Amino acid sequence: MQLSRLLIVALVFLVLVVTFCSAQTDDNSTTTSGGRKGRKEQKQQQQQQGVDGDDDNDGNDDSDNSRGRRRGGRRRNKAVKEDINVSWKQSVGDGRVVTLSLQAPANKEIIVVESKDKDLGDLGFVASTTTYDYTTDSALVAINPKGRGPCYLTGESLTYQQIMDNAVTLGASVAPHSVENATLVDGTGAALSRDKEDEIFSTNPEIKRACGRGNIVMLEESGDPPKFSGETKEVKVIIYDAELTIVVPAGRKG
Ligand SMILES: *[C@@H]1O[C@H](CO)[C@@H](O)[C@H](O)[C@H]1NC(C)=O
Ligand SMILES: *[C@@H]1O[C@H](CO)[C@@H](O)[C@H](O)[C@H]1NC(C)=O
Ligand SMILES: *[C@@H]1O[C@H](CO)[C@@H](O)[C@H](O)[C@H]1NC(C)=O
Repeated sequence: MQLSRLLIVALVFLVLVVTFCSAQTDDNSTTTSGGRKGRKEQKQQQQQQGVDGDDDNDGNDDSDNSRGRRRGGRRRNKAVKEDINVSWKQSVGDGRVVTLSLQAPANKEIIVVESKDKDLGDLGFVASTTTYDYTTDSALVAINPKGRGPCYLTGESLTYQQIMDNAVTLGASVAPHSVENATLVDGTGAALSRDKEDEIFSTNPEIKRACGRGNIVMLEESGDPPKFSGETKEVKVIIYDAELTIVVPAGRKG
């Protein structure tokens, strides 16, 4: 009795895995046609493809939609099976171009984007490493500008799959990628307490790896009027799909 029930559970699981895998394979076709698209345009494109791109023969017209729902829900992301390392050119206004690189280690739901071009300083940017952690239900992003300042945490609306699909296109392209105009974010908040830090490190060990034991500051949308009344300065970094201008207290290191 118990054994047959187990068998049924195993079978159902297998069917689910197979269904999901074949859905994933189809996803591939959505990636290569994209080209250089801004984030919004890309989203629209994916939504369109979600509507009319369903030609897998599972007899279920709704499959792309349900896949979308699962993506946003509790389902885990699928990590790549082999390391994927790509680099691409990104324009940063005035026709200047810098190189960005991305590493997705095999079997880890992590994407690391490095912005370390030697011309960054000239262009007013700080070199940085940004870690996209998809190991938990909601993606957590750790932005680590070079220097002794804090690590900045924020969320991410793109899924692991969306970034990886586009990264392959980026890596294969010669023309520079351009991103939205610089986004202003508020990094003036106080560093997290050790307890809060430990809480995040226990659920997201990769964030600990990315940030080390330095201070961690949660990024907020920049408000008007600003929450912080003291003198501020700007730390500009380039992350996967944006130029980010982080407003921080003038006295802060890094
Ligand atoms: C998926 O994309 C990769 C990389 O572009 C390619 O090598 C592979 O053949 C594609 N697979 C399918 C099923 O189209
Ligand atoms: C990808 O990059 C990482 C970090 O630089 C490196 O350790 C790894 O060997 C690279 N993998 C491949 C397949 O090139
Ligand atoms: C970026 O900023 C420039 C100058 O302010 C503006 O003309 C342009 O429309 C902006 N582009 C986007 C995509 O917002």
